[in-house]
Amino acid sequence: MKKILLLLIALFVFVDTNAQSRSTQIYENGLVVSAEVYASEAGKQILQQGGNAIDAAVAVQFALAVTLPRAGNIGGGGFMVIHLTDGTKAALDYREKAPQQASRNMYIRNGEFKPELSWEGILSVGVPGTVDGMVTALERYGRMPLELVLQPAIDLAKNGYYLSYSQARALNNRSETFQKYKGSKKYFTRQNGIPFKEGDLFVQEDLGETLEQIARYGRDGFYAGPVADAIVKEMKQNGGLITHSDLRNYRSKWRAPVIAQFQNYELIMMPPPSSGSIAITQILDMMDDYALSELGHNSADYVHLMSESMRRAFADRSYYLGDPDFYDVPKQGLLDPKYNHARMIDFSMDTVTRSSTLSYGEFSNNYESHETTHFSVIDKEGNSVAVTTTLNGSFGSHVAVSDAGFLLNNEMDDFSAQPGVPNSYGLIGGEANAIEPGKRMLSSMTPTIVTKNGKAQMILGAAGGPRIITATLQSFLNMAVFGMNAQEAIAANRVHHQWLPDVLYYENYGLSPDTIRLLEAKGHTLKETSIGRGHIIYIDAEGNKSSGVDPRGDGHASGY
Ligand code: DON
Repeated sequence: MKKILLLLIALFVFVDTNAQSRSTQIYENGLVVSAEVYASEAGKQILQQGGNAIDAAVAVQFALAVTLPRAGNIGGGGFMVIHLTDGTKAALDYREKAPQQASRNMYIRNGEFKPELSWEGILSVGVPGTVDGMVTALERYGRMPLELVLQPAIDLAKNGYYLSYSQARALNNRSETFQKYKGSKKYFTRQNGIPFKEGDLFVQEDLGETLEQIARYGRDGFYAGPVADAIVKEMKQNGGLITHSDLRNYRSKWRAPVIAQFQNYELIMMPPPSSGSIAITQILDMMDDYALSELGHNSADYVHLMSESMRRAFADRSYYLGDPDFYDVPKQGLLDPKYNHARMIDFSMDTVTRSSTLSYGEFSNNYESHETTHFSVIDKEGNSVAVTTTLNGSFGSHVAVSDAGFLLNNEMDDFSAQPGVPNSYGLIGGEANAIEPGKRMLSSMTPTIVTKNGKAQMILGAAGGPRIITATLQSFLNMAVFGMNAQEAIAANRVHHQWLPDVLYYENYGLSPDTIRLLEAKGHTLKETSIGRGHIIYIDAEGNKSSGVDPRGDGHASGY
């Protein structure tokens, strides 16, 4: 029976590939939009069994750990933003932490920063936060027991699921790297050397057993007992740093969300160690003096104004942002509209401000101090959840825990391993984001819930490193300013600027040749690339839900 169900879902994946046609569908009850069909279906199943949005979100997170091994995870971390119909707004930080034995210079050899050490292999791993995050979210806001919301993931691991074309390709592309690590070789390569192909049944027995441990023992099923032993053994055998005490002491953390106002909208966002909420608020403030809809979507002037705002916000990010438990992030200053308007004092509509002449802004002293995945969930009552979760790079550190069946993150690369030297996303950071034991690395993940008149109207976010911030910003503006529906908003071409490198990125066919010429005339250097992969749920005034599934990926909407 389970095999038949899996086949039906697989058929659905291969036949129903037109995201645009799905977009017009309206769902009256619950809706889940994630990067992958089995995970969206798992969330919907939980909603239909009477679970609320938090139950469903936890089910989706665990399902993605099985069906999207390159980003979904139990060996990584993430952020969850919640808005309940009773007005509750909450933000859960289950970001990884540096192990106690981590040190500022751990990636320096003979005075030289070795980026390969923070990007791949055992030293790149931060203490995973996902399992504690899920247990914590469920305990406070869920209705269902952990074992019930874990069941879809356990079934998918033990019975297997059919690989999509892009999943098979992603596994094959990393095959050489997986060969280097015992566990990864066992789980993610074929012993007979035959490449994976679309439609292959992918079974993960050991992962299923790990998930069963979590179902039975809650956080202790991961941070203690045989799974913790397997993690520590992997560390010891390969020169890694994570100990039993790192695992035992890991706790996710409820934080006060950052709330931004833009026109009649309220944006509920993840505070530091996410940098996205601060950057988006700053950019919106900087753009606020201009009649955006009159400038026109992706006109040269609109792109110029937006990228100049992005440039300034990312310059501030590099200097001021880090884990607030370790560094006094000047949130109040950065979120002050007066400061952000003043930041644009040297803005000219005709010409760029070169990044080399621009640094972080100064406050008056009045203030005290390339793989991730996003999903959005709403239940039939209107409770909503936005989650962005990651291993950092595609397949994280590429180290899978032997005998426990899951990949570990390479999130340590999100620290500024050497102030002033760019990380893998070209991001430069300083003291605020230097490595310290027990500290969380700065993130760009920006799960966001937008409300209007107190009701959730948009649930959005994206993957894509620093492009998460700019992709989420543009998805929001596309709906709020340009009146696009969710599918149009997510599909529309995007641009990106992150201060350094001093480049304005745009997507293939995203800007017309004459727009590009106009931007070059203002002094921009343009480069073509892909910018983020996001997912949106939009809720209209009657409570009808529709989806925005990013055509840049394999995403799927499951609603009823
Ligand atoms: O937390 C962050 O900002 C990064 N680790 C996110 C990485 C990412 O989005 C890569 N993906 N597509």
